[in-house]
Parts: sequence; C-alpha cells; structure tokens
Amino acid sequence: MVGNKPSGPPVYTTSNGCPVFNPQASQRVGTSGPLLLQDFHLIDLLAHFDRERIPERVVHAKGAGAYGEFEVTDDISDLTSADMFSKVGKKTKCLARFSTVGGEKGSPDSARDPRGFAVKFYTEEGNLDWVFNNTPIFFLRDPSKFPVFIHTQKRHPQTNLKDATMFWDYLSNNQEAIHQVMHLFSDRGTPYSYRHMNGYSGHVYKFTKPDGSFHYVQIHLKTDQGSKTLNNDEAVSLASSNPDHATEDLFTSIEKGEYPSWTVYAQVMTPEQAENLPFSIFDLTKVWPQKEFPLRRFGKMTLNTNPQNYFAEIEQAAFSPSHVVPGWEPSADPVLQSRLFSYPDTHRHRLGVNYQQIPANCPLRAFNPFQRDGAMVVNGNYGAEPNYQSSFRPITYKDVRPHERHEKWVGSATNFAFRVDDGDYVQANALWGVLGRQPGQQDNFVSNVSGHLMGARKEVREKTYGMFDKVNPELGKRIREQTEKLVSALPKSDKGAAASAKL
Ligand code: NDP
Ligand code: HEM
Repeated sequence: MVGNKPSGPPVYTTSNGCPVFNPQASQRVGTSGPLLLQDFHLIDLLAHFDRERIPERVVHAKGAGAYGEFEVTDDISDLTSADMFSKVGKKTKCLARFSTVGGEKGSPDSARDPRGFAVKFYTEEGNLDWVFNNTPIFFLRDPSKFPVFIHTQKRHPQTNLKDATMFWDYLSNNQEAIHQVMHLFSDRGTPYSYRHMNGYSGHVYKFTKPDGSFHYVQIHLKTDQGSKTLNNDEAVSLASSNPDHATEDLFTSIEKGEYPSWTVYAQVMTPEQAENLPFSIFDLTKVWPQKEFPLRRFGKMTLNTNPQNYFAEIEQAAFSPSHVVPGWEPSADPVLQSRLFSYPDTHRHRLGVNYQQIPANCPLRAFNPFQRDGAMVVNGNYGAEPNYQSSFRPITYKDVRPHERHEKWVGSATNFAFRVDDGDYVQANALWGVLGRQPGQQDNFVSNVSGHLMGARKEVREKTYGMFDKVNPELGKRIREQTEKLVSALPKSDKGAAASAKL
C-alpha cells in the first residue's frame, strides 16, 4: 500500500487514500434511515470483501510455505552448466511450498495423501521451479488419466462425500498405480510434518551442458530432521485436534530459529544406460534402484524466513515444471510434458495472465517486452520499450538453443497406451520388503489399507485383493483377511457401502 509511512499509528483511509472519520459508522439518513450510496468507504469495503476469494488450486489447495536458500555443497559442474550450481558455496534464494493433494483449502494436514514439495529458486538466469512430491513415483504414466484419477480421490458427484468404492475402483482398474499405492498406505502416507519428509523429482529431468552432453537425473531432497511419520490413529486424531498441525509446525519452527533443511542429491544416468533399463526411463511409476544409481550429494536447502503475508506470498505463488533455466531441462516423460502446459495454464486462470509480476513469482530480472498489457499490470509495462523486434532498439539473445546432440525423436503419430505387466509389481514388492526392515511397518500398512478398503463395495474389494496378490501373495492374503474381518464387524446396513470415513 502506498503512503501511510508511520511516524505514530497509521492513519486509516479509504482505498483511494481519503482519511476516514469513523470506520465503524455508515452514512445514513438520520439515525435509523437507509444508507447513502455516496458512502464510498462502506461500499468499497463490502465490494472488496465480496471479491476476496480467488479459485483455490484444483489440486494441492492446502499448503504452507517459507523462504530459504540453496547452497551448493559438492561440485556438479561436470553434469550441468546451470548457473545456480556453478560453484561450491554458491547460494540461491528460494521459496518452498508444501501441500496435501486431494483436500480442499481447509482440509486436515494429516490426511493420507502424497505431499507436494515445490521450490522456486530465484537464480541469476531466471526462476527454476522444482515441483516435486514426497513420493519418488506417481499413480500414472499417461497424463490423460490425471484429471480422471483426481476425481476419484476427491468427492463423489452425487453425495459430495469421499468415496472408498470410487477410490479403489479406479486403482484396481489402473494397476500401474500399485507402487504409489504402496507408498501412500505405508506410514509415509501420513508424514509427521512437512519438515520430516523427503522430496523427490519423481520424473526424470536432464542436466545439460552447452557442449551437447546431458545426463538424465532424478533429484532427492532428504530431510535432515529425519523421516518421521504418524500412524493412522495419530493422523485421524490430529485431523480433529489440530487440522493445521503441519502448517503450524513449519511456521513455529522457523519462528524459533529451528530452520529445517534438506540435503540434496542426484541420481545420474547416461543416455546409454537408459537404453538398457528393464523399464522405460519415462515411466513415472518406477524408481531407479539406488545400488545401481547411487545418490550423489550436491546441495543443501534451508528454510529460514516465514512469509510476512500468507495470501500474497504463498497462496499467490505459482510453481511450474516449465519454469526452467539453462542447464536443466524436462525429459520426454509424457506426464511431465503435459505438466509443462497445465501449470502456467492454471496460473493464468487462478491468478491472471500477469501472474509472473506478483512479487513471489517475479524473477530477479526478466526482459520480455513482447508480453504487454493484460489484467493488472503492475511493473510499468515496459514503458516506452518497443513491443516488437525494433531495428532502432535491438535486443540481444543468448545462445541457449537445445543442442543437436540431445535426443532425436522420429515416429508417426500414434495413440500409445502403456499396458500393465508383471514388471509393474516388482518395485511395489521391493517396497513391501523395505517396510519389513522396520518393526511394525508391514502391520501398519495392512491395517491402513484394510481400514480404508472396508468402505468399498464387495466386487471392488475383490479386485483390489487380486492387485495386492500380484505384489506379494502373503500381502494379498493379509489384506483380504483383515479387511473382511472389519467388514463382518460392521452393522448389517453398512456392509459394502462407502462406510468408512478413514483418512
Ligand atoms: P534401497 O534399499 O537402496 O533404498 C530404499 C529406499 O527406501 C531409501 O531411499 C529409503 O529412503 C526408502 N525408504 C525407507 N523406508 C521407507 C518407507 N517406509 N517408505 C518409503 N520409502 C522408504 O532400495 P531401492 O533403491 O532398490 O528401492 C527399493 C524400494 O524402495 C523401491 O521399490 C521404492 O519403493 C523404495 N524407494 C526407492 C527410492 C529410490 O529412489 N530408489 C526412493 C524412495 C523409496 P530413506 O533414506 O529416506 O529412508
Ligand atoms: C499442483 C496438475 C502431476 C506436483 C498442481 C496444479 C495443477 C496440477 C493444475 C495446481 C497448480 C496451481 O494452481 O498453482 C497436474 C497434472 C499432472 C500433475 C495435469 C499430471 C498430468 C504431478 C506430479 C507431481 C505434481 C507427478 C510431482 C512429481 C504438484 C505440486 C503442486 C501441484 C507439488 C503444488 C504446487 C504448489 O505448491 O503451488 N498440479 N499435476 N503434480 N502439482 Fe501437479
């Protein structure tokens, strides 16, 4: 807001700066007559209030965020020319936002859901956004499934309730999701807080160099606070006792000077290695085994500053995997490719065409005078700069073209659909084994699934048992037994209905 430079308490004014005598008195005829249209203070106040809401994010609506910095700890200049990674010790300011996915803006932080892990780096060569999750894989590998899948995790079109039948009906009919389902129903599906979870790129990206060399990479941000999770009972209890637990935890820890940090690693793969993988490198449902592709440390991210204003800085933050910088490129993963379109598209809808001018989104420097006008220009609109390539005021360009040594794609247009095969259950079973390394985690997994699946109709339950059988027969058997036991204990009228409102 302009003006009101306080030397003493600020003077209250209308939005156009006119001092107001009494903000709690409306102009009217006499003491009980009708209001006056001339009362700009009242009308302006009401009209602004009427417009306070903008669309919430269609997914990841509930979140919390903070500023911090990324520091390069180990040299990776052999892999990427990205300026922010150019030398050990280099620091770059960043803004992180963590979120749940399916719930609305007021939904509980402890919901069983993947967590978003988005970071915007304000680099010397533009903003680089890492729009990651806390799981290393995802439910699908063809983007056409995303809106449909999301519908099944949100509310039923008729009842407006979360619906276990719809939820498991989708998953049991799209079994490439199984690996992510295993993560979701382990206790890592309910992290203790945003500070106690990892972030993963999920997709493969590329580290590139101007000489045309490139490496495929997967990024891991591992929490320095240690992974800490809630069991289902704790998560359900927190949802009612403190639905904003993770939001509060992030804010208060930073306020106390206990700055959360993450050590940042890359898994690195050459194009030749990619050709010999047992699965497509562009398959978002697969991880790279760490024995073959070890984690290479290169940085640390620390969050140390809370926003001054949640709406301005966090609600209006606009992350996109298409916000890239030289040295970092998206891969041909089809889900990632579609995300490159979807995020700026939704930002234009949610925040307006000039969303990059909002301070939280504004790069350190940008010069793009071909983008002019539109709603809410607040950056001077490039003044008198020509709005075309003028011979009288030439613009210089940097040679950051895609290099001809990068992948070459040839083919005819097809409607390609991935098929689910036995390979899709292998890594899900590996995770079942990882859970077995930690006491109680397999038991919790079975109980987390059963407590949710019991709410689905019988035929959907049966299909879902078959899916878990394919991961591991012992797992399938345990889930069947425990779920059916819970169903038998239900009152007769609830059996087979969407009875359970578990998280
Ligand atoms: P490794 O034994 O080399 O690594 C196991 C991985 O599992 C570690 O990254 C560990 O992360 C993570 N992990 C440990 N406990 C859990 C848990 N309760 N829930 C989820 N992840 C956990 O095995 P592989 O690389 O061969 O992978 C085996 C399985 O581990 C995969 O199928 C996948 O589901 C899971 N995983 C693999 C990752 C990868 O990038 N390869 C990343 C994360 C999970 P941490 O150090 O944080 O405990
Ligand atoms: C948010 C679409 C898959 C991570 C969003 C939003 C949309 C979207 C429209 C809301 C953005 C906003 O309003 O600002 C999609 C589509 C996907 C997809 C179409 C697949 C086809 C993924 C995957 C990941 C992911 C695979 C992680 C690896 C996130 C995160 C946010 C988000 C972290 C929240 C960003 C924030 O904090 O503002 N997604 N998404 N999404 N998505 Fe996705």
